[in-house]
Amino acid sequence: MFLFGEHAVVYGKPGIAMAIKPRVFVTVRNTTRPQRARSPYIDGCFDVMGVTGSVYINSQIPSSSGLGSSAAVTVATLSAINDEFGKNKTREEIANMAFEIEKQVQKGRASPTDTTVSAYGGIVLITGNSRRRLPPQNMHLVIGDTLVSHTTSKMVEQVSEFKRLHPEIVDPVLAAIEGVSLAAIHHLHDPKELGHYMNMNHALLDALGVGHPQLSRLVIAARSAGAFGAKLTGAGGGGCMVALCPRQHKQRVAGAIEACDARAIMTSIDTEGVKKERNV
Ligand code: MEV
Repeated sequence: MFLFGEHAVVYGKPGIAMAIKPRVFVTVRNTTRPQRARSPYIDGCFDVMGVTGSVYINSQIPSSSGLGSSAAVTVATLSAINDEFGKNKTREEIANMAFEIEKQVQKGRASPTDTTVSAYGGIVLITGNSRRRLPPQNMHLVIGDTLVSHTTSKMVEQVSEFKRLHPEIVDPVLAAIEGVSLAAIHHLHDPKELGHYMNMNHALLDALGVGHPQLSRLVIAARSAGAFGAKLTGAGGGGCMVALCPRQHKQRVAGAIEACDARAIMTSIDTEGVKKERNV
């Protein structure tokens, strides 16, 4: 899930993302009569691994929400294939393969952000092709899912078109998002300060045209209920927002979000990344 810098990462600016608690569980079996999955991400996983098999997915992450569910599914599927077929791929190789699959399915419009955090867990700084793990911090987060559907590729396309028509407006906004992300790196341990940066990042994303009335409503509701800060997360135009809260107000913030006809998910950092649960 993006904490800072979504959209700007597409233009080589830094992005900060964090792995969060809802998990995707994937079971892969080496079967003689494989059923082809209907998702292009899952088909891509079997293709790059050069095997066929059956797959069962149980996701706790809402799909198409902007929380990086496609990346989580792809990383978990590659890892399950790796275990079932004894492929001995490293975590890094799995992260790289997952990124290639996302790029292919999303027609080139993907950053390695969500695939990296899904593979490694924790907090990751992405700049261009470089990825750096940042010290993990426990944050009290509430995610608000607007339940308004959106398409990442469409939102990315929209920003690119806006930038083409009005570089004099869009370039300074992207530069300001970069400034916010770079400042935030030094305050990951300070929720009050981080909240300010989240609010600024949200305003800048609104300026890029990727907001939505329901996202604004949830962001304001969360702040009014005591959150340090709140912003949309992911591609925008619908999908999810995230609020950073004092621990004692987490429940109240979740209630305020639910009162706006949205779904609230209370969450925190995951530091493990992809892992083998058990042999079944
Ligand atoms: C989508 O979750 C985030 C974007 O920055 C696209 C990407 O990084 O792949 C809009």
